[in-house]
Amino acid sequence: MPALFEPFKLKDVTLRNRIAVPPMCQYTAQDGLINDWHRVHLAGLARGGAGLVIVEATAVSPEGRITPGCTGLWTDQQARAFVPVVEAIKAAGAVPGIQIAHAGRKASANVPWEGDDHIAVDDARGWQTIAPSAVPFGAHLSKPPQAMTLQDIARVRADFVAAARRARDAGFEWLELHFAHGYLAQSFFSVHSNQRDDLYGGSLQNRSRFLLETLAAVREVWPEHLPLTARFGVIEYDGRDNETLAESIELAKGFKQRGLDLLSVSVGFSTPTASIPWAPAFLAPIAERVRREAGLPVASAWGIGTPELAERVLQDRQLDLVMVGRAHLADPHWTYKAARALGVERASWTLPASYAHWLERYEAA
Ligand SMILES: Cc1cc2nc3c(=O)[nH]c(=O)nc-3n(C[C@H](O)[C@H](O)[C@H](O)COP(=O)(O)O)c2cc1C
Repeated sequence: MPALFEPFKLKDVTLRNRIAVPPMCQYTAQDGLINDWHRVHLAGLARGGAGLVIVEATAVSPEGRITPGCTGLWTDQQARAFVPVVEAIKAAGAVPGIQIAHAGRKASANVPWEGDDHIAVDDARGWQTIAPSAVPFGAHLSKPPQAMTLQDIARVRADFVAAARRARDAGFEWLELHFAHGYLAQSFFSVHSNQRDDLYGGSLQNRSRFLLETLAAVREVWPEHLPLTARFGVIEYDGRDNETLAESIELAKGFKQRGLDLLSVSVGFSTPTASIPWAPAFLAPIAERVRREAGLPVASAWGIGTPELAERVLQDRQLDLVMVGRAHLADPHWTYKAARALGVERASWTLPASYAHWLERYEAA
């Protein structure tokens, strides 16, 4: 059996293989409510065979949305709307996961196909953003955020906890805290965005505080038997990568101590001037270092689009779980095709009978 098709057990949850669909925003929600588009989209990806399907960055508060089209979990009505989505993912044999998020200074943006830039200040669709310091990201996201007070920090931490509780009640079995990509949590950690001189800024310990406190608070409400994970940008590609990586590994150790079960290793995206060495699976060796030094299982994405490459990063013990994003948008049956390409027994194709019955004959012909 190829490594890609070995089951993966984390806490009391077993994924049928090592393939995960990472969170991918659809920007089609209204008032944060998940809808039929998401249900069909996510159920389709689950039916394709992935072991884990993680719902897109879902905001813990209205001002935490990236765009007006982002999903949310700040009301019970929003949580109820997730139930059929969770059930559809489960019915297709995948584990339902969700990423909860606050976009910080990158919030209040237009959807990507309408510019990806900040909504103009005088446009009623937008809102005031918040961040550790009043420092804009720059480039296409130049709106200055408001520096958060200690009360703001406590409120957002509580919003994460409330969203985690709602995700639990909606039936999700895998929770990912969005601590990456230059959004609020990452911006507390990054020196590009955090210029505070209180307990939440300055030293590594202080810049880690918001992330560690939020994780610890969520751990109290997220069931102990279910995986609690985070996505974090361990490197910025900004010329100070050795230092950032070393700090990130210290943070990852702190995550582990506070009950994190797996880290999804990503890029920080904290500065528009980063010079990212895009290449297939370029993050896998970095994830391997985090795995080894922090002693945490790791997942990662970014350009792992072929079955052969996915198999290799697992065989090389760089990753425990492979995230396959855009290749799944191109082909929701990516996992089925990967099983075929890697010579997996038909019994493990994981397609439902109403597809598998016909495809077995079709493929054999
Ligand atoms: C349409 C789209 C939406 C995305 N939304 C999110 C998101 O909600 N949260 C997140 O952490 N990453 C998001 N990402 C990044 C993906 O999770 C993934 O890391 C990225 O696509 C790289 O993996 P890939 O090369 O397999 O596509 C998004 C990517 C795409 C293409």
